[in-house]
Amino acid sequence: MTYNPSRRLFLGGSLATTALGASGIIAPMSLASAAPASANKIYYGPKPGIAKLNANENPYGPSPEAIKAITEAASSGGAYYAYTAGMYLTDMIAEQNNLQRENVSITAGSSLILAFAAYAATSKGVILGPDLFWDTTSMAPISQGGPSIRRIPNTADLDIDLEALYNAIDSDVAMVHICNPNNPTGKILDPKKLREFCIKASKKTLVLVDEAYNELMEDGPKHSMIPLINEGHNVIVARTFSKIYGLAGMRIGYMLGSEDNMTWINKYGLGGYSINQAGLAAAITSYNDESFKSFSREKVVEAKDMIMTAVKENGLAALPSSTNFVFVDLGDRGDANAFQKAMANYDVHIRGQYRTYQLWSRVSTGRIEHVQMYVDAMPKALDDMHKAIKA
Ligand SMILES: Cc1ncc(COP(=O)(O)O)c(C=O)c1O
Repeated sequence: MTYNPSRRLFLGGSLATTALGASGIIAPMSLASAAPASANKIYYGPKPGIAKLNANENPYGPSPEAIKAITEAASSGGAYYAYTAGMYLTDMIAEQNNLQRENVSITAGSSLILAFAAYAATSKGVILGPDLFWDTTSMAPISQGGPSIRRIPNTADLDIDLEALYNAIDSDVAMVHICNPNNPTGKILDPKKLREFCIKASKKTLVLVDEAYNELMEDGPKHSMIPLINEGHNVIVARTFSKIYGLAGMRIGYMLGSEDNMTWINKYGLGGYSINQAGLAAAITSYNDESFKSFSREKVVEAKDMIMTAVKENGLAALPSSTNFVFVDLGDRGDANAFQKAMANYDVHIRGQYRTYQLWSRVSTGRIEHVQMYVDAMPKALDDMHKAIKA
């Protein structure tokens, strides 16, 4: 069968069979700390006692104001489709970014619109990206017979190699996918260099910049590529309410781009039907809540300091992080999958190996008491791994 993504254009079709698993429900990774279905009590967050540090959430959210808005929206709007609130948030985002509502597409989390973009791009050619980036959505078309991502090695420091990416753009490339700050490295690109790259590269192909973690940086606006959209470059930018806003479970994200790009990408899924009143209420209330954002940033900095100190005290190293997670180099102490298992024995859930980066382990910041569990468990888990290797 030939690959034709436009035959799968309905919500829950394309992405549901890929990122969300063949059953269309949810990927096992996301269920790492969920209670079994047979349990009497349902936990909406991690089970008490579990330090869930594997998905870069902000467990200090939703803000108290957002929780009030969620309650209000569920009771007065839960019976209705969310068109009005959806347009309200669309206009808020457009206004804040000096764009028009036609330049904004909101979906249930940014993963959805990112996947639509991947389906749109792969209907024309291949997606080009670094070896290491958050590739889930650009991989989504593969399970439908679409092309694999064309990958360019990261630099020795695990940065994105912009020059090599640029040189790899040929007529087969339909989209370049960049994550900035990057996941799982946590590293940020020089904004001047990225801007130059986007301007040059977008003359040859569409450039997607995923800025999911932008607001975690004090100087986020300096790093954003959103102004390039207004300047008329062929650039699209994704943002999410899942990170700094602490609303990962409320599922609101968005993409910004030219009207033509938004119209084209939206043909690959029914994003407007994916949004919900409670998520919108939380997002609308949180969007300009500077005090909650500052509070979240402070908690992330505190947690990262704790992680960095533990890393050093245990003789390990880590990359500098502009995000709410840290990429830790386990060196000769073992591999990321073994470390993940060893930490789980102490109820600390972190990420396992990424691609071929066997010795690199990613941990998210979380509630300070959960980060303390990571810090306390680290020497014990490393010791357990050492004993297991010797045995
Ligand atoms: C870089 C990046 N983009 C997007 C997402 C997905 O976020 P959302 O919850 O908006 O679907 C993630 C999730 O971790 C991410 O790391």
